[in-house]
Amino acid sequence: MRSFTYRSRCSGEVRVLVNYPHADELSKLLDKYTSCMIITPSSVSSLVNFSKCPRIIIKDGEEGKGIETVLNIIKQSMDNSLDRSGVMIGIGGGSTLDVTGFAAAVYMRGVDYVNVPTTTLAMVDAALGGKTGVNAAGLKNIIGVVKQPSEIIVDLAFIKSLPASNYLDGFAEVLKYGVTMDKGLFDKLSSNVDKVMNRDEGLLEDLIYGSLVNKAHVVEADEYDTLGIRIVLNYGHTIGHALESASGFSISHGKAVGLGMICESTIGVKLGYTNPDIPGYLTESLSELNLIQSIKVNADSALRAITGDKKRNGGFLNLPIVTELGDWVKVRVKVDEYLRLVKESCMYLA
Ligand SMILES: NC(=O)c1ccc[n+]([C@@H]2O[C@H](COP(=O)([O-])OP(=O)(O)OC[C@H]3O[C@@H](n4cnc5c(N)ncnc54)[C@H](O)[C@@H]3O)[C@@H](O)[C@H]2O)c1
Repeated sequence: MRSFTYRSRCSGEVRVLVNYPHADELSKLLDKYTSCMIITPSSVSSLVNFSKCPRIIIKDGEEGKGIETVLNIIKQSMDNSLDRSGVMIGIGGGSTLDVTGFAAAVYMRGVDYVNVPTTTLAMVDAALGGKTGVNAAGLKNIIGVVKQPSEIIVDLAFIKSLPASNYLDGFAEVLKYGVTMDKGLFDKLSSNVDKVMNRDEGLLEDLIYGSLVNKAHVVEADEYDTLGIRIVLNYGHTIGHALESASGFSISHGKAVGLGMICESTIGVKLGYTNPDIPGYLTESLSELNLIQSIKVNADSALRAITGDKKRNGGFLNLPIVTELGDWVKVRVKVDEYLRLVKESCMYLA
């Protein structure tokens, strides 16, 4: 069991608990609040052994991440007399936490919320950082606000029921924190893949804790994504999102980010910033984690997705580029130049 806190400009101190039983911690938390609601999809609801709060069952995955779910949460919260001193508790994967956080941000102009992530991706990434929101008009995360949770409770018991591919997907983000900011974390993951495969609790606690501490440092430094520091969390994602969308979402998010990191590190080498060994280190670790997929997506569709990327800024892209294992710099690259490099260096485009 390990815990830490990070500071938010808008919400004060956020407590992060790793490897704590969710029922015990939620019980303790209720002393602070007058009322509570749990928001969870039906697939996860049966894994939740805490019955002191009414439950709102939402649709699973991206299907549940819409404005209609927010309206449903608001209506049911009103029906259950959730007041401004109450708390919403999201228990689920990233899509459940994103929609819960957004509903909490707008209900009665804002109530507290707590994240209980149940997928690896949500444990190492989505639960922390305060980016809440929903999909609309065919676009992901197009409506949203930044509001930090008041507490994050990671209960490793939820890992047991995850299907293998869903379980492994989150480790692309762990490699991302490692390669950009924390060589120790990268080495710990890369040299213990057998334990990862066996879902070894001690190792998982270390990797999740390390990932969240790294993310929390970035969020504390640039909570609203305005200072050019938070872009490091996008490493692998500019090309990853493009591969994901050009493949018609036939490739998982974790695999797309993994392949994105290989392409972005190769570009970093071409630009003269990245140690030439890094694309190989990434390829080896991703391959051992079964996160390499040999795909070829349409180059024009992928390049179009990059030009539409929201990180584009006046004809330039601000990109995080790894220098050495565990270090990165921000580089401003002309969009045209970047597209040329992507076409030339990314082997997953046809
Ligand atoms: N806010 C952020 O900073 C942030 C960061 C990364 C991703 N995200 C968002 O997270 C979402 C993806 O999250 P995700 O990968 O966790 O997927 P998800 O929430 O869509 O869940 C994936 C599937 O896993 C199932 N599941 C969840 N927990 C389970 C468990 N313990 N056992 C068995 N099945 C379980 C769910 O029912 C669902 O079918 C995307 O919408 C993405 O935009 C947000």
